[in-house]
Amino acid sequence: MGYGETWAKVILMGEHSVVYGYPAVAAPLPSLKMRAWVTPAGLCATSCIRTLKALNYEGSLSAAGDRFGGLECAVKVATEFAGYPGLAFDVVTDSSFPAGRGMGSSAASAGAVIRAILDACDVRASEQEILRLTNEAEVITHGNPSGLDAVTTCSRDIVTFQSGQMQYMRVDMPAYLVIADSGIAGSTREAVGNVRKADEKNHPYVRSVMDELGELALASETDLELGAVNMLGERMNRAHELLSQLDVSHPLVDHLVDVARNAGANGAKMTGGGLGGCLIAFAEDADTAQNISRALLCEGACKAWIHSLSAKSNE
Ligand code: PMV
Repeated sequence: MGYGETWAKVILMGEHSVVYGYPAVAAPLPSLKMRAWVTPAGLCATSCIRTLKALNYEGSLSAAGDRFGGLECAVKVATEFAGYPGLAFDVVTDSSFPAGRGMGSSAASAGAVIRAILDACDVRASEQEILRLTNEAEVITHGNPSGLDAVTTCSRDIVTFQSGQMQYMRVDMPAYLVIADSGIAGSTREAVGNVRKADEKNHPYVRSVMDELGELALASETDLELGAVNMLGERMNRAHELLSQLDVSHPLVDHLVDVARNAGANGAKMTGGGLGGCLIAFAEDADTAQNISRALLCEGACKAWIHSLSAKSNE
């Protein structure tokens, strides 16, 4: 038996533009775990997974769907790395956050399964090697992943990322992120594909949007360092407008972004691939964060989480 664990993430700034080499900033959510257990099930020529049981965050079994391909690939690359090609596994994953909502579920599950296989095979690998293997599995689910999800779903610190290079930031801000699930499953693969098609059709327009998203991401790194809550909130609002112009948001997410702002958020935006999924809202104090969370749940969000950005609560 082998065990591996990762967690959820949200992109604070730079989704989509990060695929084109612009900077992005993402926050790990270590309290929302993805756990994996694997048991060797003998050699198999046709499949790397003999059985897959994927428990979703409500405790029920989720349809493996797209994830199966990604996890097959995760098992394949991990067994090859460990020197046991063709060894099949029984796999159980248990997630405390939803899949398909921009919270990094596919990278988190691939990363947890890869760690579990290496644990079962008693093989040590560097974090760098595990990230490379996770990104190989992510190609199956995402097509053209930037690599940001793989890094953030196993980091304890905020990640700044550009063209495969990451840096870690220990942020200590007396502020809160409210993360809310619209309940609508998005498809990152489809959203990234749509942006690619738009870029092929109208390159100057899409690239000018990307340029601005990149500038916002860069400036938001400084906001986080300085604790500039209002500036960061304004940039989040602008990023949401730009992402909507790229057609990767969703009417319910747009509505919930407005609800969050009216409930006192300093800023709010969609997060992740889009076409549904989650939004994030930024609040200066715990009471406001609670109010935002309540308002979002009343107005159609199916779940909300509050994450503190103070260093103490994330130790
Ligand atoms: O929806 P998620 O959590 O998979 O995030 C996707 C982020 C994108 O920038 C749209 C794609 C990527 O590979 O970075």
